[in-house]
Parts: sequence; C-alpha cells; structure tokens
Amino acid sequence: MSQPRRLLPLVGGGFRGHSGRSAMTCKYRCNNACDHPEPNESENAYFGDIVRAEMSRRDVMQAGAIVVGAVGVAAVGVAAPAFASPDSERDADSAAAQSQGQGHGHGHPGTGAVALGFKAIPPNKLDTFIVPNGYDHHVVARWGDPVLPGAPPFDVRRQSAAAQKKQFGYNNDFVAVLPLDNQRALLVCNHEYTNPELMFPGYDPAVPLTPEQWRITLAAIGMAVVEIERVGRTGQWQLVRDGRRRYNRRVTVSDTRFLLTGPAAGHALMKTKADPSGRVVFGTQANCAGGVTPWGTVLSGEENWNGVFSGGNALPEELKPSYKRYGVETVNAVTPTWATVEERFDLSRHPNEAHRFGYIVEIDPYDPDSTPRKHTALGRLKHEGANVIVAPDKRVVAYTGDDERFDYLYKFVSHRKVSHSRRENLRLLESGDLYVAKFEGDGRGRWLPLTRNNKSVVEGMSVEEVLIFTRLAGDKVGATKMDRPEDVEPNLKNGKIYCALTNNDRRGAAGQPGVDPVNPRPVNRHGHILEITEDNNDQTSETFSWTLPILCGDPAQPDTYFMGFDKTKVSPISCPDNVAFDATGNLWIATDGNALGSNDGLFAVPLEGPQKGYLKQFLSVPLGAECCGPFISTDSRSVFTAVQHPGEVTGARVDNPASTWPDGDFAKPGVVVAWRVDGRPVGS
Ligand code: FEO
Ligand code: CA
Ligand code: CA
Repeated sequence: MSQPRRLLPLVGGGFRGHSGRSAMTCKYRCNNACDHPEPNESENAYFGDIVRAEMSRRDVMQAGAIVVGAVGVAAVGVAAPAFASPDSERDADSAAAQSQGQGHGHGHPGTGAVALGFKAIPPNKLDTFIVPNGYDHHVVARWGDPVLPGAPPFDVRRQSAAAQKKQFGYNNDFVAVLPLDNQRALLVCNHEYTNPELMFPGYDPAVPLTPEQWRITLAAIGMAVVEIERVGRTGQWQLVRDGRRRYNRRVTVSDTRFLLTGPAAGHALMKTKADPSGRVVFGTQANCAGGVTPWGTVLSGEENWNGVFSGGNALPEELKPSYKRYGVETVNAVTPTWATVEERFDLSRHPNEAHRFGYIVEIDPYDPDSTPRKHTALGRLKHEGANVIVAPDKRVVAYTGDDERFDYLYKFVSHRKVSHSRRENLRLLESGDLYVAKFEGDGRGRWLPLTRNNKSVVEGMSVEEVLIFTRLAGDKVGATKMDRPEDVEPNLKNGKIYCALTNNDRRGAAGQPGVDPVNPRPVNRHGHILEITEDNNDQTSETFSWTLPILCGDPAQPDTYFMGFDKTKVSPISCPDNVAFDATGNLWIATDGNALGSNDGLFAVPLEGPQKGYLKQFLSVPLGAECCGPFISTDSRSVFTAVQHPGEVTGARVDNPASTWPDGDFAKPGVVVAWRVDGRPVGS
C-alpha cells in the first residue's frame, strides 16, 4: 500500500520581556499583546473557578498519573490511502522511502520506542548554533538569499522592495520539506514579521520608516518556496543556485492573490472597495507555524495579524466589540504602519479588510502558478498553524490552536473523504464541521460543535459570523480557556494529538481565570504539553481523554513533570512552541522565549519505552533567537530548524548587533539543517 507524501522521501542577552521573550519580539510580532488586556473577557465557566486554590504538588502528580493510565491505546489498523501528488508516482525510490516513514493515517500500535542516544547539549547563552557531538549543521537559506531569477546579491545597505520580493524573506518560522526526487526537495517557509531595527542600517526609533522601507518590510513577510538539494549522500542540504529551479516562489503581502473558500467567502463582511466579490485577498501575513497535508500542500497560520491595522478608533461602535476580541486596537500606537503604503490597512476607510486575515492558508508548492487559498471553514483566530490527520473513515481532521492567553483549541472535520484524486483532495479543507475543545476535570473532554453541515449551531450567530468571529462563538459555547495553544499536531504513529501550551503569566492573577485541571499552574511561566486521545482513536470523535505528559521548567522544581522519568537526568525546558515527530514517533519540541534565561532550542523525548519522558536538549539557537520548525526528514537523516529573530535584543542594531550569526557581520534569520556525520538516524 503506498503511503502519503508527507514523509518525504528524502532518501538516501539583553532585556527579556514577557515570559522570557525579547522585548523586541513582543513589540514587533505580538504588538505587545501582554501589555494589553486579555481579549477574552467572556464569562464562560472555567474549572479554575471550582479549583481556584493554588495548585499543590499533589495536583501536579495527579495530572501526571493521568498520563500513565492513557498510554497504549490500540491502533485502529486503518492504513492511509494513496495520495497522488503532482510528481508522485514518477520515482520508485520515493515509494520505497515513503513506506519507511509515517503515513497520515495510523497503522501502528504506538510509537517506535527507539531510544534517543545523543548526549544532551547544555543550556547556554552563546551566540552560535550548537548541535550534539557527532553532528554537523549548515545554514540552508538566510535572509536575502536569492529565490527568484534576477535576485540581486544581498546588500544590507542597498535594499529595495523589488529586490526583497526576489529574495528569501525575514524571520523564518514554519519549515517544511517536500520531496522532488532522491536528491532534491522543496523547502517551504513562513516569514512571520520583521525587525526594522535589525534590518536597516542607521535605524532610529524616533524617525519613521520611509515608504520604501515599509515596502521592503512588507516584501520580507509572507512565505517562500525554494528548491534545495542534498549534498552527496549526506544529511546535508543546500540551496539549488543554478538555472534548474522550477518551483521557487515568494508569497508576499502586496502581490500574492489569495482566494477565500468556505461558507464565509463572499459574505458582506468580506467585501471591500477593492474586492466587491468578498472572495479575493492580497497577501498573507504574520504566518507562524503550519503543517504539511497528506496531499502535498502546506498549511500556514495567520497569527498576530491584528497588529498591522490602524484607524480602528474610527470604526462604528457596533463593530468595535468584535475587533476588540481579536486585539485590533482602537488606536494602534505601536505600528500605525502598513497603511503608510497600503491604504487598505486603515480600518477607518476599509473596516472589512481585517475580516480577511486570521485564517489557515493553503499553498501548493508543487505548482508555482497556483493561487493560494484562505479556508474560512477552519475559522478566524490567531491561528498558530494547523496539522492534518486522516481519520479511520477517511475524512480528514485538522487541529489548530488560537495562540493567546485564555483562548481556545479547535478542530475541523472535513465533510468529504480523501480520494486518489489530488484535485479533489485539494478541496477537503473548504467544507467541514468546526469544533472547540472543552476539558473536563476527570481527564475527559468534549469537542463542542460550532458549525455542522455548513450551518451554525451557535445561538444567535450565522455560519458566516461563526467563521469570521470564531472567538466569539467559542465564548458562547463555553470552551476551555487555555494557556496559549501553539502548535497542535497529531502523532501519526499513535494517532494521539500533542499540543504545546507555551505559557500564561496571567493564569490565576487577580481578576483572571484561575488554574484548572488542564492548565494546572498559576503564573504559568514555562508552559506544558497536552496529549489528547480521541475516543476509539477516531479523530472525528466528539469526546476524548487527555493527559499532561510534560510540565516544563527547571526539573529541580517540584511543579515540573516528565512522564515520571527521573528528573535529575532531563534537560530544563521552557516555553514549548512547535512540535514535530520523527519516524519512530518520538516527540521533538522547539521553544520560544526560554524563561529560564538560556537560549531557545530543540528538545526530543520518547513517548514510550524505558526512556519515556527522558527529555534531552538536541540543539540551541543563537542569542536572541527563537527555535522554529522543526522538521525531521522521513529518512531521519536531517533535522531542519528555523532560527527566527537572532540578535533581537533591546538596543541592538545592524551596526551594533547583539548577534553576528550566521555570517559574522550582523544577524540574519535563517533555516538550518543538522545531521549526524556518520549518516545514522538523527537522535538515535
Ligand atoms: Fe508565532 Fe504563537 O507564535
Ligand atoms: Ca510559534
Ligand atoms: Ca509542528
């Protein structure tokens, strides 16, 4: 039985801001969200109201005990159907390679329980990229590298928007690698936001950016697709720099046309002067994490998209509550910015433009001329990303988190089933039912429906309103307020769902929701990992069990937990953000904003076997950076990570950098591949 494409036959220091995050990250990416009131002021119940007492050590251990009881769910034995992708059947080696990897269905009773044999690297604050002994690494792509024909060599002192549109963008976040053949692949990357102080020599915060500088920053945001090639037979990959490139692409804010799909497309709330159809949007922005679909496309989450709009103070009063729920400020003090060069970002003139951001977007990297889409059926949130699994009945289920303190966890169940037609599979995310999670105190939970058969099931809201104001719909049905749900990803080896809850320094604060069983720590500075087991291991189920396998932090502290493993042996970890799985089902966790004071990094932990819970740090990223991706190749020989915002330290500038990674001059975000020099599987 052939397998789906995803496992890609890659054969062969300064001031730290909120929760340990750099103050500059807060400013430019989140629009200082932590300084603003929580957008969620709804009064739906939380268990914290019942268990408001400070969490005790006993509470933590009870949370852990649930974990132990849930391991070992039987596999459902449904193999993934074949998924034709554009080039799929052309390569026999690909099929062979795919069969050794994970599928998007689940046919394995649990993870592979392969021990992770690497020696953990120590926590550090060095301005370099560190891998374990026996490994090497290489910068595959960095800001300014040529992507499209005619891209000029990067020159930080001679930047232009025209050049940037042909070059690799800034602040790479999500990373995916999709196969072309044994030696070549497509690297797909999000470019989430920009740091003008680290991009433009002579930057002065007191002086507004020039219009051309604004245009450069908009051109540096979006996505990139670049062809990469393996170096010999190693795990190293590099940019294809010759004329053989067919697939390279830049997706930008100003120039790339997106189609809206699903029930909210074409609705009056989507229509603008420039788009009376309400179906066509230029650009995607604030793209954070994402996922690869079984049919060989990439999903990307529009996350902190709210911060670029200005003019909200002039909105009609009746519109303000819904804008406020999304953190669109009535007066945008931090970034009154994009309207400088594109009037549509001025809400006083174009109030509906903001309704056209906040979606999961889908791009087909195998067709550089394809029109990417924004899927309204998955709701409008601050989507971290989305990841798809094929359910036993062959419908597909996408999990997605809304990354904000006290916001919700969602899933989408497609109406149609996967087929052998890629063209049909490309439409799977256009129609389906949307749910939001409610967690009970006994390790059980329910998916509360928001839409069914493209109709609203939320009282007083139309289906379009549910999908455009999804947070308000979640409020109405009483979803559970979470500690910032970031990446949510099914483990294709055991069918369970893993979610990184990165932190929530307001949990339990005065006037804020208290602890609850699934968010059990007050002032949650270090975050935790949530595991969901859908009933009958069927991802379309409306009920589930849950556990907390890992409570992050300094393992010497009593409120941390690592699946019961000896805590004197595990690495400290803080602020889990992105998750991934290797071919044997081990969990890999990338961090953002390490509140323990060390650089961010990538960690790996077995979920089964004698080393279950033995979490070790695999790599660290340079000073000021967060660790994004990660992506482990199907052949287990390469680990891709993105180094986002290196050197992002208060006061740092191009001419006075806090980081000189990767080239020794000034900081440039970039994508890195790490591999084991003896060619054996990474981590083993
Ligand atoms: Fe872009 Fe939720 O981090
Ligand atoms: Ca993230
Ligand atoms: Ca992920």
